[in-house]
Amino acid sequence: MENSKIAVIGAGSMGGAILSGLIAAGTAADSITASTATTQSAKALANKFGIKSFALDASATANSDASQDADVLLIAVKPAKVLETLEEIKASVKDGALVISIAAGVTTESMEHAIGSKASVIRAMPNTPSIVGHGVTGIAKGKSANDNQLALAKDLFETVGQAIVVDEEKINALSTISGSGPAYVFYFAEKLMTAAKKMGFSEKEANLMVRATFLGSATLLAASSDSPETLRAQVTSPNGTTMQATARFDEADLEKVFIEATEAALARAIELGKNK
Ligand SMILES: NC(=O)c1ccc[n+]([C@@H]2O[C@H](COP(=O)([O-])OP(=O)(O)OC[C@H]3O[C@@H](n4cnc5c(N)ncnc54)[C@H](OP(=O)(O)O)[C@@H]3O)[C@@H](O)[C@H]2O)c1
Repeated sequence: MENSKIAVIGAGSMGGAILSGLIAAGTAADSITASTATTQSAKALANKFGIKSFALDASATANSDASQDADVLLIAVKPAKVLETLEEIKASVKDGALVISIAAGVTTESMEHAIGSKASVIRAMPNTPSIVGHGVTGIAKGKSANDNQLALAKDLFETVGQAIVVDEEKINALSTISGSGPAYVFYFAEKLMTAAKKMGFSEKEANLMVRATFLGSATLLAASSDSPETLRAQVTSPNGTTMQATARFDEADLEKVFIEATEAALARAIELGKNK
């Protein structure tokens, strides 16, 4: 990746996070370009990272301008705009370039069709902890991409966390676990905050306790070789207080809820994919 020129097409929250990871990992600012819809966002990126940025509201060729010298193009626009963006940059993309899309639901086959034979295509599904360098990204290669390009994509996403290579047919399933997963965790945090306030703690106290508990537990989980089940058992003495609480989770059959929740997310991903 060291000698690759990288273009981030649609550098918003996720594209911007990866951009930030690349810079933090030592990628030279002059080897990165970016494009956005508005001049305001483009300027903010240029000021923050010292990269060259282009805005569509200033020039209709912004995406092509950002793409023309790039060896790797990270497509991070909204899913509905991916194929039209690829059509738009097709003429200016370098021969042999690698296109990596992080858009949910857009298949490598449809992207390969849109970009033509000049470029290879990889599809990836990062998650929002990438913003703080602790993301998990699933990566799947299209028919047009080779193993070296897959390794390059892995290096790129490892600048913002960990990466896992899967077959494309598994990307939707992965998105129901690690892609949506942060929302499940935040949902739990929300509910624990409500319970803390019900116990009489102030918003500030509840906030501190819940955030610190999630951070501490996640750090312990990451640092320990014990399974989540073993770590849970360490907090749960037989017939003690915690056991009373987790018994309520068991009564609510949380395992079934999680299975049904991820199955519902998968069904929606499949439905959305049919429109692409
Ligand atoms: N957020 C997540 O959790 C997550 C996780 C995995 C994958 N993704 C995928 O990441 C992609 C981006 O999501 P996001 O949350 O980062 O969205 P976002 O914050 O709205 O960012 C979109 C970016 O695209 C720019 N843009 C809009 N239209 C454009 C165009 N025609 N050409 C070039 N740039 C354009 C926007 O410019 P302005 O800033 O000027 O508006 C913005 O910088 C989506 O495809 C999504 O499926 C997101």
